[in-house]
Amino acid sequence: MNIGFLGCGLIAEPMVRSLCRNFPDARIALSKRSESTTRRLSKSFRNVSVGNNQWVLDRSEIVVLSLLAGVAREILPGLVFRDGQQVISVMADIGLPEVSELIAPAQHPCVTIPLPFIETGGCPLPVYPRSRILEVLFGQENTIIPQSSEEDMGPHFAATAILSVLMAQLDCTRRWLESKAGNPEDAEIYVASLVSGYLGSLQKDGKERFVEAMKDLSTKGGLNTQLLGHHRDAGLLEVLENGLDGLDRRLRGATRPGLTP
Ligand SMILES: NC(=O)c1ccc[n+]([C@@H]2O[C@H](COP(=O)([O-])OP(=O)(O)OC[C@H]3O[C@@H](n4cnc5c(N)ncnc54)[C@H](OP(=O)(O)O)[C@@H]3O)[C@@H](O)[C@H]2O)c1
Repeated sequence: MNIGFLGCGLIAEPMVRSLCRNFPDARIALSKRSESTTRRLSKSFRNVSVGNNQWVLDRSEIVVLSLLAGVAREILPGLVFRDGQQVISVMADIGLPEVSELIAPAQHPCVTIPLPFIETGGCPLPVYPRSRILEVLFGQENTIIPQSSEEDMGPHFAATAILSVLMAQLDCTRRWLESKAGNPEDAEIYVASLVSGYLGSLQKDGKERFVEAMKDLSTKGGLNTQLLGHHRDAGLLEVLENGLDGLDRRLRGATRPGLTP
């Protein structure tokens, strides 16, 4: 199996590491940018090699597009794809119709949303359209969630942005705890274990488990009830919803070339 990556940055690296772990015989070609990353990967794995973008395409049956949208628009028209090449795009901000034009004569690309923890598995992977090759490469360890239209991918990309908001909240809590209770390492271990333990215990079956958890936590006059009320009163949940709407508008613009996101 020959797999190529155009763009080898923050998201390509964990994908490559996952592939190297699960498919030690696959040959993986990386485009020669982000030198520190590509050097690290080619030193770590004997089946990873590095070359220019056209060289990556020429030797790959499967191509992962992991470029920023602006770079993809700039460089893909100058590259030659082949009919029959299987293309997986992980790019936000550029819709499938535009990707299809840029990779012709290759056809039927799919779009999915890996996150860095794909390296160790357990990553949800919304995809449109359904892709057999994505299932083969990443379906063993991750949850593939097929979508019924490309329009449904935008809100999934938008929802990933909750992660930075959550991290900022956790870091704020860590700093606050440290300032009151002293030990910086203990503060981080406590906050990380509190949240990952609680989330880990939630069933992921789509049956309103967040609502159930909030009920479990909402002792009348309790600490969770007070802090959540404080957030609600400050309008912070509304702020979050408005922010997600803003991302959705931006991403809907990206699915219809010509509209400004
Ligand atoms: N990061 C995430 O968690 C994540 C998750 C899901 C989807 N995505 C999507 O994945 C895409 C990449 O994101 P990223 O976070 O990985 O960004 P990134 O770290 O900036 O990676 C982009 C890569 O493209 C390379 N590049 C730039 N110009 C190039 C060229 N002319 N030829 C070949 N490679 C070139 C960059 O190399 P240099 O460093 O040398 O410029 C870099 O390695 C984006 O469309 C993003 O929306 C990201």
